[in-house]
Amino acid sequence: MPIVKMQRILDHALRNRYAVGYFEAWDLYSLEAALEAAEEARAPAILGFGAAVTNGAWYDRNGVEAMSALAVTLAQRAEVPTAVLFNEAQTYAQAVRGLAGGCNAVMLDSSHLPAEEHERATRDLVQVAHALGAAVEAELGHLANAGDPSHVAAPTDPAEAVRFVATTGIDALAVAIGNVHIMTTGEADVDLDLLERIHTAVPLPLVIHGGTGFPRRAIPTAVRLGAAKFNVGTVLKQEFLAGVKAAAGDAAGTQAGIHALMGSRDAPDVMLQGKLRMQDKILELMELYGSIGRAAAF
Ligand code: 13P
Repeated sequence: MPIVKMQRILDHALRNRYAVGYFEAWDLYSLEAALEAAEEARAPAILGFGAAVTNGAWYDRNGVEAMSALAVTLAQRAEVPTAVLFNEAQTYAQAVRGLAGGCNAVMLDSSHLPAEEHERATRDLVQVAHALGAAVEAELGHLANAGDPSHVAAPTDPAEAVRFVATTGIDALAVAIGNVHIMTTGEADVDLDLLERIHTAVPLPLVIHGGTGFPRRAIPTAVRLGAAKFNVGTVLKQEFLAGVKAAAGDAAGTQAGIHALMGSRDAPDVMLQGKLRMQDKILELMELYGSIGRAAAF
């Protein structure tokens, strides 16, 4: 199946009241985990990688192009409708390089900038992206970050959101409704009334970042109130690492050789075991988001 537009996936999710998980990857094993989970579940996929928690110099050297090429290659051969997202690009230049590398969706991490700068950068990016047939997601308001107190939460204002969407032309709006980035334990205290007011004001698919700490019991209501995409990162790395550690521990008392343990892509491969753990978590989350089986509609 060819790569599909993120917009098509999100519009379908919004219309049919389910959400698609964006399960953030950081290397080939984790990209495969995200895609193979979607294939197993017959769910549409938004495959991608993000720049918020990775060394910026690594991305700037050739990481953007390398990760784009991996994601695009997998997406082109996917058995389910798949879009390719470069999430939370740290600079405008990085975002444009992601688009040049074949990502058909991009988000610039600029919501912490002064409002005018954020709006200008977003509007410019929309022009470039739309000329290439790509989509732009942007955040209005700002999420707290459980690992970095310098990120101060600023809830999305519905009236401002209406104006921001109209002036920038974005395709999906990431909202701050009490959701918190990078929670390693516990759940955030989210304001679903605010989500409802944003959804009533803005017809676009809404995006929830901080999927790890988003309260499970609030997911069905959030989906009913326009959340069409959940971004999930932290819990996937926790699961991946647990899988790697367990596999390395199991191998310690055996004769398994180094080539079996590292890079073999056979059962003893510790990274493969990490990938499988991540995949299980993704399947569990897809069930909550309601995206299982939805690929059939495309
Ligand atoms: P978590 O790591 O909190 O799940 O958030 C991921 C995210 O929002 C990526 O955009």
